[in-house]
Amino acid sequence: MRSISLILKQLSRSILLVAGLTAMSLAARAQGDAAKGEALFKSKCTACHKLDQRMTGPALGPIITAETDDKWLTKWIQNNQAVIAAKDPKALKIYNEFNQASMTVFADLSDGDAANIIAYVRTEYKKMQETPKGGDPTKGAAAEDKGPSSMMIYGLLGVIVIAFIVILVLNKVIGTLERLLLKKKGLLTDEEEAEQAEKGSALATVVKLSKNKKLVFFFVFCGTLALGSYAWVTMWNTNVHQGYQPVQPIKFPHDLHAGVMKIQCQYCHSGAYKSKNATIPSLNICMNCHKTVKTESPEIHKIYDALGYDPSTAKYDSTKAHPMQWVRVHNLPDLAYFNHSQHVKVGKIKCQQCHGPIETMKEVYQYSPLTMKWCIQCHKRTEVDYKGNAYYAHLEEVHDKIKRGEKVTEKEMGGTECGKCHY
Ligand code: HEC
Ligand code: HEC
Ligand code: HEC
Ligand code: HEC
Ligand code: HEC
Ligand code: HEC
Repeated sequence: MRSISLILKQLSRSILLVAGLTAMSLAARAQGDAAKGEALFKSKCTACHKLDQRMTGPALGPIITAETDDKWLTKWIQNNQAVIAAKDPKALKIYNEFNQASMTVFADLSDGDAANIIAYVRTEYKKMQETPKGGDPTKGAAAEDKGPSSMMIYGLLGVIVIAFIVILVLNKVIGTLERLLLKKKGLLTDEEEAEQAEKGSALATVVKLSKNKKLVFFFVFCGTLALGSYAWVTMWNTNVHQGYQPVQPIKFPHDLHAGVMKIQCQYCHSGAYKSKNATIPSLNICMNCHKTVKTESPEIHKIYDALGYDPSTAKYDSTKAHPMQWVRVHNLPDLAYFNHSQHVKVGKIKCQQCHGPIETMKEVYQYSPLTMKWCIQCHKRTEVDYKGNAYYAHLEEVHDKIKRGEKVTEKEMGGTECGKCHY
């Protein structure tokens, strides 16, 4: 009996195992979401791969389209080093073919992410093969997407204008018909008709109205109010540059880098968490990707020019290098001190709360007014998160000391920290 139950147990266990494995392989082979895959592919893979061309790594279109074992692909994408280390023959072959150049390990990509990337590569490569050379399949689609919405707005405006004109014309026609009708019935004598026509004339109306003192006062009052408030608002907004968007030397698209590719803000603005200035990245950071990405774009060539980099020889010539002259968007006057780390690191405030939806901006503009009122209003409304914050824990310590009547030095109040006295 015991042996039978053991066998049964074994059997059920292996059935479970097989079921589990099939489910997993099915999940791995499940249709991924190409749209999600596109963003991932562009942010993680385009530095080394193109779909139809060999770069640092092989052209992925044909490889991924031909590969039938998605589980193997997923494993490779997540951790190619492990696959190579396991002496997988397929992996070793391509690894040696590329002179053992190493591909990045993407441990952060889930099975679903990998499936999305695979789906994107397959659909995109298929599209590429279907469209004739030189045609950009994405462009037509994008134009079609945007077409109807602006068409609809213009259409709607047109309809409104036409309706307005029709109403005006009808009004006129009704007026004339009415007068004709009255005349026909003999209710309107010629004299009365002339009088009515005079009454209707615009000039007569204005003359009559201008004699009405109350009305004149009303109009003067409204005019003064409008002009006054206009002047008031203009004066308040002197030196407020909300919406300011200077022309930059390179049209750097935040929507693409921070939005579509989801590159963290601090990858480029590394100062924001540790210092007063968020800092603008040096062009070397751009070159981490743009040495190989979009090399044909004239905008990217501006980066090469500024660095004295020659893409055909991949060599830098420092004598030709010159700094990139970004135009500063946000500008507090020197009399105000603003520190990023104080807000971003200690205050845990999101960049977007002050800079707006940067990740959707084609080019950056000043989102907030940056007035003193703006600073003060937020300080009045924002609750300080002091729990688990070393700065406030220290303040509590000092507070307790003061309560106990003990000695407290300025050093304990932070008086020796460089930033308290230095910019
Ligand atoms: C740092 C450069 C680099 C990045 C980034 C990179 N790869 Fe690779 N990839 C390579 C190289 C080089 C090879 C050739 C094999 C080797 O030398 O390891 C390769 C090979 C491959 C292969 C072929 C494996 C085979 O044996 O058929 C696939 C598939 C692949 N990469 C997918 C991806 C995907 C998907 C991404 C993005 C998530 C990616 N790679 C990002 C460099 C890179
Ligand atoms: C790939 C690099 C990169 C990433 C990622 C990036 N930025 Fe930028 N950012 C730049 C560059 C380059 C400039 C200067 C050019 C410009 O103003 O368009 C800039 C300018 C800015 C400015 C205007 C600075 C000024 O002159 O006042 C703000 C604000 C800003 N970025 C915020 C952000 C935020 C918030 C994020 C994250 C959502 C982010 N950036 C992500 C590169 C980047
Ligand atoms: C509390 C509001 C606030 C937050 C939060 C904030 N900023 Fe700023 N940011 C400002 C102000 C104000 C300026 C103008 C500073 C000046 O002119 O001295 C500025 C300037 C900048 C600049 C341009 C110049 C420079 O180097 O300082 C960049 C780039 C920038 N911010 C990026 C960021 C990023 C990235 C984040 C998030 C990590 C962020 N900011 C969070 C208010 C904020
Ligand atoms: C993590 C990689 C990465 C970094 C870092 C990066 N970019 Fe990009 N950038 C890309 C990719 C990928 C594209 C192309 C997306 C596409 O296919 O349209 C791109 C597109 C662009 C474009 C649009 C080019 C065109 O003609 O459409 C400009 C301009 C640009 N980047 C400038 C910069 C600048 C300036 C920096 C440095 C501050 C920078 N990039 C840093 C990955 C990066
Ligand atoms: C979105 C809200 C917000 C805006 C806008 C903002 N601040 Fe702040 N600020 C905070 C918060 C929250 C703290 C407290 C951080 C902490 O210590 O926990 C703070 C702290 C400070 C401190 C440190 C105060 C201290 O007691 O040490 C200074 C200085 C400061 N802000 C200056 C400014 C200036 C200047 C501006 C306008 C240009 C500004 N802030 C705009 C939220 C904001
Ligand atoms: C209590 C205010 C205070 C603090 C805190 C403080 N400093 Fe200073 N520091 C000054 C003053 C005032 C001067 C200018 C007088 C002088 O040059 O002797 C100065 C000068 C300097 C100079 C010389 C600058 C020059 O051009 O000669 C350096 C470097 C310096 N400080 C670094 C630091 C560092 C690093 C810290 C943090 C560990 C720090 N300071 C903290 C007040 C301070």
